[in-house]
Amino acid sequence: MPNRTVYKELKTKEECWESIKLLQVRGAPAIGIFAAYAMYVIAQQYADLPYAKFREQYRADSAYLNSSRPTAVNLSWALKRCEAVVDEHPDLSSRNILNLLRKEAETIHEEDIAMCTSIAEYGLSLLKDGDTILTHCNAGPLATSRYGTALGPVLLGTERGMHFRVFADETRPLLQGARLTSYELQQAGVDVTLICDNMASIVMKNGWINAVFVGCDRIAANGDFANKIGTSGVAILAKHYGIPFYTLGPSSTIDMNTPTGDDITIELRDPDEIRSLWYREPMAPAAVKCWNPSFDVTDHELVTAIITEKGIIYPPFSTNLKKLFN
Ligand code: MRU
Repeated sequence: MPNRTVYKELKTKEECWESIKLLQVRGAPAIGIFAAYAMYVIAQQYADLPYAKFREQYRADSAYLNSSRPTAVNLSWALKRCEAVVDEHPDLSSRNILNLLRKEAETIHEEDIAMCTSIAEYGLSLLKDGDTILTHCNAGPLATSRYGTALGPVLLGTERGMHFRVFADETRPLLQGARLTSYELQQAGVDVTLICDNMASIVMKNGWINAVFVGCDRIAANGDFANKIGTSGVAILAKHYGIPFYTLGPSSTIDMNTPTGDDITIELRDPDEIRSLWYREPMAPAAVKCWNPSFDVTDHELVTAIITEKGIIYPPFSTNLKKLFN
């Protein structure tokens, strides 16, 4: 993306693992949906095994897939749901369990479509026709299903004849904003302007931004949340310029077992993504040290509200997130 759209057929667990690792499928909810379908495909290879052996192999493969990326909770969330299907049916043949696994993957996928639609509705209620939003990374249909999360309100509103402008951060180093967000918004007929990450401050200072909408990979119980590297800087800028800052995600992204952002594992990626990935020749000395964290944590104090399919959650997040699950 965006120059070629290539569909890949994946059969082995190694191919599925690599697709997540290499971000061929990425975005927290999309990773979860993909993992559920992937486990159905992988488990077909040993559907003739008796239950105990099937379960043992299934759990090992599920743990293997779970090791592909650590930050987005949706991966382990979806894998756990599918493992529960296996655990709960010792009385069934492995072939019948396989059918249930396909159904579970389809359910996770359908639920995501419904959640994205509801998130889009709640997000849209915070916008008025003509507003301009700034977004970081990609939290649109390519990261989820149907409307996406952070882009959902804009896409839904556009379908209803409203007009929005979007400033999309290019999102170094993997350029999800340039490659995916600007592509998706252009396709949908939205007025999108691509900026480098370090230009967010000037567009805010110019008074051009009404709200910041971003996705999330894991929301801790106190409202801190991990999202693509650079998100916390955008939140700090938004606070400085008095611009409301929202994170949008399905409730499956809220991890009540993670007390604060300090407890979130941040994925470190290959330094060559910084040194050379997008260039005809390396743009840094070959041996230069690089540090390449893929995500950062935005402090809950910078967040105006968390928008989920269940509603808009305002501070105090520790109390209000707990209420959401009660
Ligand atoms: O590394 P990526 O491309 O998977 O990072 C994606 C993000 O940070 C998204 O904002 C997040 O997963 C939410 S997608 C709805």
